[in-house]
Amino acid sequence: MRARALSAAQLDQPGLDTVDVGAGTGFATEGLIEHVDAARVTMLDQSAAQLRRAQAKPALAACRKLLGDAEDLPFPDDAFDRYVSCGSIEYWPDPERAIREAHRVLRPGGLAMVAGPLPPSGRAARWLADAWMLFPSRADYVRWFEAAGFADVRVLTVAAPWAASAGGGAYAVAVAGRATRSGAPAPSWSETVPERADEPWTVRRLVRFAAGSLAGALFIPAGIFMKLRARRGPGRSP
Ligand SMILES: C[S@@+](CC[C@H](N)C(=O)[O-])C[C@H]1O[C@@H](n2cnc3c(N)ncnc32)[C@H](O)[C@@H]1O
Repeated sequence: MRARALSAAQLDQPGLDTVDVGAGTGFATEGLIEHVDAARVTMLDQSAAQLRRAQAKPALAACRKLLGDAEDLPFPDDAFDRYVSCGSIEYWPDPERAIREAHRVLRPGGLAMVAGPLPPSGRAARWLADAWMLFPSRADYVRWFEAAGFADVRVLTVAAPWAASAGGGAYAVAVAGRATRSGAPAPSWSETVPERADEPWTVRRLVRFAAGSLAGALFIPAGIFMKLRARRGPGRSP
């Protein structure tokens, strides 16, 4: 699954300057450095704890590690040949803005690859997923890439090993595009609307928060239950 997603990034030369955004403890980075010199790889994450765990991995010792936000990357324009992000977009409050940042930090002709989830197909799982986290549609990913200025946008579907063996379909995508120009893009509408860190705790917000937390807690057990039920097949008729 990791190798298939990374293939979309075309890591075809060891000398590619590469940034892994939302690198966490470095699972995707470990795949990345099979193709690119570790000293050319920058791991960026918003969590110091995750980066500390990455720092403890000898294979990743040569990679630069930086604290930062995917939506406001601490790099100049045209800094990299490749931008990679695996399993992080679902946590970003404004993914469109982050993908514009991906374009800004890439040199013209550079490639971005973002791997993220697709919405689950079952109705109940979909409801839980939407209450918990961001599960963009395939069309959302493509729209964000094209709006940021990427060309040749391609979508590779990725199936989780457990879903594939159970006959399940696409579970995630690896979306890739080629940067077309240099410099910062024009601001999108979302960059003009400031985030409200001081939003008051109204009853509506509290209910939303509680429903989201409950959905997050139920998501994995509900998914396992539905997968087991699907494996058992249709119940016996009376
Ligand atoms: C599920 S982990 C994936 C880690 C890694 N890419 C991997 O393949 O194992 C998601 C990571 O995204 C990071 N993250 C979430 N939002 C972020 C943001 N806005 N900017 C940077 N990192 C972010 C989290 O701290 C976390 O380490």
